[in-house]
Amino acid sequence: MTVYLNGEFMAREDAKISVFDRGFMFGDGVYEVTPAYGRQPFRLKQHLERLEHSLAEIRLANPFSRAQWTELTEQMVAKNPWENQGIYLQVTRGVAPRDHPFPKKSTPTVFMMCNQLMTPPDSFYEKGAECISAPDTRWLRCHIKSTSLLGNVLARQAADDVGALECIMFRDGFLTEAAACNVMIVKNGIVLAPPQDNLILPGITYNAALELMRTNKLPLEQRKVSEAEVRDADEVWLTSTTKELIPVVTLDGKPVGHGAARGKPGPVFKRMHALFRECRTRECAPAHV
Ligand code: PDD
Repeated sequence: MTVYLNGEFMAREDAKISVFDRGFMFGDGVYEVTPAYGRQPFRLKQHLERLEHSLAEIRLANPFSRAQWTELTEQMVAKNPWENQGIYLQVTRGVAPRDHPFPKKSTPTVFMMCNQLMTPPDSFYEKGAECISAPDTRWLRCHIKSTSLLGNVLARQAADDVGALECIMFRDGFLTEAAACNVMIVKNGIVLAPPQDNLILPGITYNAALELMRTNKLPLEQRKVSEAEVRDADEVWLTSTTKELIPVVTLDGKPVGHGAARGKPGPVFKRMHALFRECRTRECAPAHV
């Protein structure tokens, strides 16, 4: 695996940062995860736009232009061996003596790596995922893709402890998101997606799904979704870069849905998943095709 650190490409083992890096000391940084299929990054522009917002929110100057990020991403994908990759990038406020306020002078640390992107096998989409739920105890700026992820880590571990895939979170009686995915539900044929406010990460997969629903005229409401609505939903889905769209078949051990589709991936999910795959294939087709 080749990684990038502060201007240089190197082997993973050679990438070293100072213990005084504010990313290590304070979690003072932001990150992005972009998928590449057949070595073509999917929706890179949107990921770089979100990076710009995250950096602006934490008052950290963007070390690169969008063109420079794009070039670096392409170089990273080319230097790594897999056809499908998850491209991780992280920017921290750099190295400085430990003190909470921003250092007067510091150079941001820029790190990038690629992993093989393992999208779940088709059988997984037919079977679906088990999830648990928990109160959302994270901070109120979840729209920032911050590396300070302790709330998310603890929620995800709670799911892992009981063999569940994800932990779906509620704040003040309303759905927010899962530890590392967005969540949407279906009721009476209408997709209900929580608003993209400060309480959730504005997911690129969520946005791609909404765009596909609008183009294909699937009924959709973007609004606050109550916990009761989630627990009585016909379908519940997760969306994320690394998981695409995943149907949730049990929540806290109770089957999701009603009638024949109870505890099984629903028809709206199946339609959306096919549309998503089609879109991904279309946008990530090799340039010469
Ligand atoms: N997670 N919400 C949270 C809290 C997330 O961490 C993620 C992504 C999402 C989905 O966003 P997107 O569709 O842009 O991937 C929603 C990434 C993959 C991660 O932390 O590894």
